Amino acid sequence: MGDRLPWTKPVLTPHRMGGLNKFGDLRTQVHQSDIDGVEIAPLLEQYGSPLFIVSAKTLRENVRRLKRAFATRWPRVRHGWSYKTNYLGAVCNVLHQEGSWAEVVSGFEYQKARALGVPGSRILFNGPWKPNEVLQQAIEEGATIHIDHLDELYAIENGARKLGRESVPVGIRLNFDTGYTDAWSRFGFNIESGAARDAVQRIAASKWLKLTGLHSHIGTFVLELRAYAAQAKIMAAFMDATERETGCTIEYLDIGGGFASRNALQGVYLPPEQMVPSFEQYAEVITDTLLEATRGRVASGKPLPVLVLETGRAVVDDAEILVTSVVGNKRLPDGRRAAILDAGVNLLFTAYWYNHEVRPLRPLEGIAEETVLYGPLCMNIDVVRASVMLPPLNIGEPLAIRPAGAYNNTQWQQFIQYRPAIVMVTAEGRVELIRAAEQLETINALERVPESISQPFPQGLPE
Ligand SMILES: Cc1ncc(COP(=O)(O)O)c(C=O)c1O
Repeated sequence: MGDRLPWTKPVLTPHRMGGLNKFGDLRTQVHQSDIDGVEIAPLLEQYGSPLFIVSAKTLRENVRRLKRAFATRWPRVRHGWSYKTNYLGAVCNVLHQEGSWAEVVSGFEYQKARALGVPGSRILFNGPWKPNEVLQQAIEEGATIHIDHLDELYAIENGARKLGRESVPVGIRLNFDTGYTDAWSRFGFNIESGAARDAVQRIAASKWLKLTGLHSHIGTFVLELRAYAAQAKIMAAFMDATERETGCTIEYLDIGGGFASRNALQGVYLPPEQMVPSFEQYAEVITDTLLEATRGRVASGKPLPVLVLETGRAVVDDAEILVTSVVGNKRLPDGRRAAILDAGVNLLFTAYWYNHEVRPLRPLEGIAEETVLYGPLCMNIDVVRASVMLPPLNIGEPLAIRPAGAYNNTQWQQFIQYRPAIVMVTAEGRVELIRAAEQLETINALERVPESISQPFPQGLPE
């Protein structure tokens, strides 16, 4: 008995794609060593890993392309920068310098825009909760307010009354079924149920308010162009009916955001280069529909409304990358290779929904193999990529994850780890720190430990 070997569970190790075969390794490794000509590796040494890097050049080019696509097809176009997509001050100001207004959805975002120097008159104020003091400030400062619900309508009316200001211009947010997107019916007033028409009538009956705009936002990462055609048609028809019934003049139609960025949404089979419409394609569908729907208006000599866009992710996503480093490797029980990175879903919130592209900074040697990329959190769901073909990775190997500009610097979490530095490569090629890395003091700054419990072990160290 004593001579027997201990029993161990048998393990089957399947052969996996990507190993050597008679065709060799056909995959060409894409790598990225610089951003706008600035080498990334020295930046990691200077600012630490992980590191977010924003390209001001790409940001400017994107927003210019967006505006050109629409301005060449519609006489009056305005872009409001969706703060929630990325409200780093430097990012917002680059876009403001390009002429974009601020589109904000909370008291905090309103204050942030004001603190950056954006006047109230260049702020679009959306969102389901606009705290009373900020709402009052927005009325006083002439912000464009989009009413979400009736209680807010009454609050604005009260605010106008307090100021003794009649006919305060307001817009309303609409929701409706495009036939191609889920109706985000929790925001604004529903058209089909008649709630939107009731709101219009209510505003028309108020001496304190004047309806000047219609707003809707039909979703995010909307790949279906027909959804925008439906949106434009429904909003134009509602504009006509509203003007006819109440005698008001709608000065602008705000179609919100939602254009897809060049990212790979999980569950979408084709790559983003094939799936994601260009700005020109979105613009063509929207303006063609609006031109058709406003023919009667033009014939009667009425001005065309300003077309307002609140495009967020498609402007900023590919203007920022996250560079992270490998901190460990392991082989999973099912045979797959796995690597642990110093950045996870705490920083790349969008990894829950998108398969981001992963690029080493240099060509790597060795056979590419299916690899799982985990983040550093002690939490099972911290997966940056569930499966990506990569050669063996050394400890410290930096990887650029992209695109990372949309919703990550706003939805990231200070959870378990510090949040890292963010730098911007300016259009002139300078590298500027735009957000310092967090440290213990940053996180402790707001905490207070009461005097009576200020010592962890007042009776001496426990056993
Ligand atoms: C009202 C509003 N406008 C604009 C946006 C920006 O959307 P996107 O980033 O999809 O363009 C959002 C995002 O949810 C939004 O809620």
